[in-house]
Amino acid sequence: MRMWASFFSLLNVALVLMNVIEHGSAGITSTFIRAEWAAADIPLDNKVFETPNGYNAPQQVHITQGDYEGKALIISWVTPDAPGSSKVQFGTSEKQYQFSAEGSYSNYSFSSYKSGYIHHCLVDGLQYDTKYYYKIGDDDSGREFRFHTPPESGPDVPYTFGIIGDLGQTYNSLSTLQHYMESEGQAVLFVGDLSYADRYDNEDIGARWDSWGRFVEPSTAYQPWLWSIGNHEIEYFPKLGELVPFKSFLQRYRTPFEASQSSNPLWYAVRRASAHIIVLSSYSPYVKYTPQYIWLKEELERVDREKTPWLIVLVHVPIYNSNEAHFMEGECMRSVFENWFVSHKVDMIFAGHVHAYERSYRISNIHYNVSTGGCHPIPDKSAPVYITVGDGGNQEGLAARFRDPQPDYSAFRESSYGHSTLQIKNRTHAFYNWNRNDDGKKVPTDSVVFLNQYWASNLQRRKLKRNICRGSLSSVAAF
Ligand SMILES: [Fe+2]
Repeated sequence: MRMWASFFSLLNVALVLMNVIEHGSAGITSTFIRAEWAAADIPLDNKVFETPNGYNAPQQVHITQGDYEGKALIISWVTPDAPGSSKVQFGTSEKQYQFSAEGSYSNYSFSSYKSGYIHHCLVDGLQYDTKYYYKIGDDDSGREFRFHTPPESGPDVPYTFGIIGDLGQTYNSLSTLQHYMESEGQAVLFVGDLSYADRYDNEDIGARWDSWGRFVEPSTAYQPWLWSIGNHEIEYFPKLGELVPFKSFLQRYRTPFEASQSSNPLWYAVRRASAHIIVLSSYSPYVKYTPQYIWLKEELERVDREKTPWLIVLVHVPIYNSNEAHFMEGECMRSVFENWFVSHKVDMIFAGHVHAYERSYRISNIHYNVSTGGCHPIPDKSAPVYITVGDGGNQEGLAARFRDPQPDYSAFRESSYGHSTLQIKNRTHAFYNWNRNDDGKKVPTDSVVFLNQYWASNLQRRKLKRNICRGSLSSVAAF
């Protein structure tokens, strides 16, 4: 298997080089078109939404990182009929649970909907890089799952992330989810817009949050999904008497925000393997002096590239996008944070929101001055690559109209559904793939080797650490 993996990795590199030779720096607008499956949600009686057997059996099971360093998880689930137990039993052998942790539950109402009992339990003190089994629910209807903790953070720790956005619950969403589950992804970076339940009325809003929780459980119960929020999580509905933004999301999904000294669950950071991941909220204040602004400034100082070389930012609204959909919506955040993204050499910024795929070159527009004018993104080796993966497949369909001509900053764009994987190999190299959903098949379509912005761009650092790169592919184009 390893031999084949190496072969495909080399093939990836060759494709990238061919791409560069063939196209120079011109951006590519993919001409791929395929008949899209109907963008309607899957009916609620479909088996993908099936409830588990047994009275009051836990459902909608999902896990996320529970601390800053990766030694804790938050395990969440819903019991439909009665509170039941909030306990998690866990251990390193199947059906032998040496440990347990006690969580808590709550419920909420939304318009005419009343939720089940939503449980959250922090499981901490875990060993790194270890397979655990866990059990939740009462004995006669208990359910068992497993997860694998990440390796201890270190500069050359390999790790594979999946990146999914704007998923929803259509047949296209199902295709994306299934394709991701076929990959070797170990954790998901989710870039906002989960269930699209807000497109329903009254109690159906809650019902579609429940169905989405069951829909994604085959992945979310077994590996952490790191959440960021999108506009479909806001759910500000004065006509329904619902005035508290993010109510359903905050009741159902947890983030480890306090561990990164954030004051709000909607923005936070974690270290995981060789990556430092910063999650931002497009829909919370972020201009100067706001809590999110102050927190991000301080969090960027806490990034230790000697320990976690890969600096990744997640945010829902793309900063750079050349689709007609949501064009320039990210401009306000760009004007506030882009300077920091460049000065801190962020590797990549993943966004959703636009229901298509797009990858930028390394560009910045930090010299814009409102007095003197002249506002053009220019090539900048210190800048992040901006990647839009809002193509999970929700009921709103594809954003099919790209702006013409393709702007200089856009490297590759295609209006199809899919997901991405980022395989971090060591402190200098990561293999990246965007995988199109192609009539039931997963097709790697945009493949890039990323060189780390901190380690690979500094010759001095690389010379000092020459040994760790031996055997790596050193002649690839720098993206
Ligand atoms: Fe969105």
